[in-house]
Amino acid sequence: MKIKSQFVCQQCGAVYKKWVGQCSNCASWNSLVEEAVSDVSQKKSAVSRGEVSGKKLDFVKMSSVRPSNEKARLLTEFSDLNLVLGGGILMGSVSLLAGQPGIGKSTLLMQISAEVAKKYPVLYVSGEESAGQVKLRAERLGASSDLLSFASSVSANDIAKTIESGEFKLVIVDSIQTLAMDEIASAPGTVSQVTNSGNLIIRAAKKTDTAVIIVGHVTKEGTLAGPKVLEHLVDVVLNFEGDRYGGFKTVRAVKNRFGSTNEIAIFEMANEGLKEVKNPSEALLAERTNTDGSVILATVEGNRPILVEIQALATKSNFGYPKRTASGFDLNRLNLLIAVLERRTKLKLADKDIFINVVGGMKLNDSAADLAIVMAIASAVAGRKLGEEYVVFGEVGLGGEIRSAFRADQRIAEAKKLGFKHAIAPATIKDKFVVPVKDLRETLIRYVK
Ligand code: TYD
Ligand code: MG
Repeated sequence: MKIKSQFVCQQCGAVYKKWVGQCSNCASWNSLVEEAVSDVSQKKSAVSRGEVSGKKLDFVKMSSVRPSNEKARLLTEFSDLNLVLGGGILMGSVSLLAGQPGIGKSTLLMQISAEVAKKYPVLYVSGEESAGQVKLRAERLGASSDLLSFASSVSANDIAKTIESGEFKLVIVDSIQTLAMDEIASAPGTVSQVTNSGNLIIRAAKKTDTAVIIVGHVTKEGTLAGPKVLEHLVDVVLNFEGDRYGGFKTVRAVKNRFGSTNEIAIFEMANEGLKEVKNPSEALLAERTNTDGSVILATVEGNRPILVEIQALATKSNFGYPKRTASGFDLNRLNLLIAVLERRTKLKLADKDIFINVVGGMKLNDSAADLAIVMAIASAVAGRKLGEEYVVFGEVGLGGEIRSAFRADQRIAEAKKLGFKHAIAPATIKDKFVVPVKDLRETLIRYVK
């Protein structure tokens, strides 16, 4: 039998007969991989003959359906993570835990497994590590339960079969990129393997009401390596983000069929595994020394107000072209803010390299961070400190106007709690704690001195 092959874009799944350099569907370069076509598709299909081959669905009256048991959730030892999940792991749900290699996915899942295994049978399947290696980690994390089992496998068929046995309440699959299905010839980690393996596992999970958590590695750019497709199939997508080396790591749901996507859980890696950070603001401000270029931003992560230090450094450019670097903040936004600063105030920045650092490995995703960023830059360039008693928040418009921020009450409450006296914030907020500002230039003249 002659084996046919096709080329599949690893970014979007578009299929081509011949190899091309750029995918015409999603415009990514060099993303096509050759995959074998299984012989099913080579038979003349019913579709091409214009027939409908399915059978009539068994349907039920919606009024007679009993809702899934919302109470039946498996709790992890982390209360914030339970919130992120919408109240714990729902039975029969399939979640994807996505994160960069080394961020702590296996560690977190072993901790979750250990906790759930205090009451229910749990299976940890790894295609990346041997039983011995996983045992080492389990020992370190203090996981010792007779209900916790381990299997080493890279076969999606075998894993699905095991899930189908219904013996386990929770099954961990570490990771989807190592799995392959017998029926498909392409290498593990390709779009077709990931989609089909994922589907097989999801079907098995739904059949037996087993909760499954699948690990997915993410590339540096933040996309699921190749298989973005899996995000659409699973019930919950959890993103594990942060610095691989120290600092805070956050878990947030970017998709949750059974809960809100507004909560986040903040973790720190310790010797005995991951620990939840309950007071991130306190920890983030503990090592602060008030120098020029340092500004405290009152930001909001998910539903949580957090105070975080923004540091800016400005040095003379050595080459004609000034360099701009940001860690934890969007570089395009930084360039835009620098342009606003140059145009709307008298600061000269064209001959300066500017570096922005968000302390503690936090990644800001908050338009109200603008004002703190520009004030930090102004403070660094002028070599002048901002008073210790201030926190800052507000969006900066292209005209240099300060615009309102959402969840202002929460930001203010957090600042009060940590002993700050004032918030430099948009004038639209009516609160005695706020020193109202409307215009960027005025703000800098008044407070950066
Ligand atoms: P790991 O969970 O293996 O990351 P991932 O599965 O996402 O690739 O572990 C991440 C790092 O954490 C690893 O380099 C070692 C470190 N670590 C600790 O610092 N303390 C611990 O208790 C454990 C288990 C790991
Ligand atoms: Mg791992």
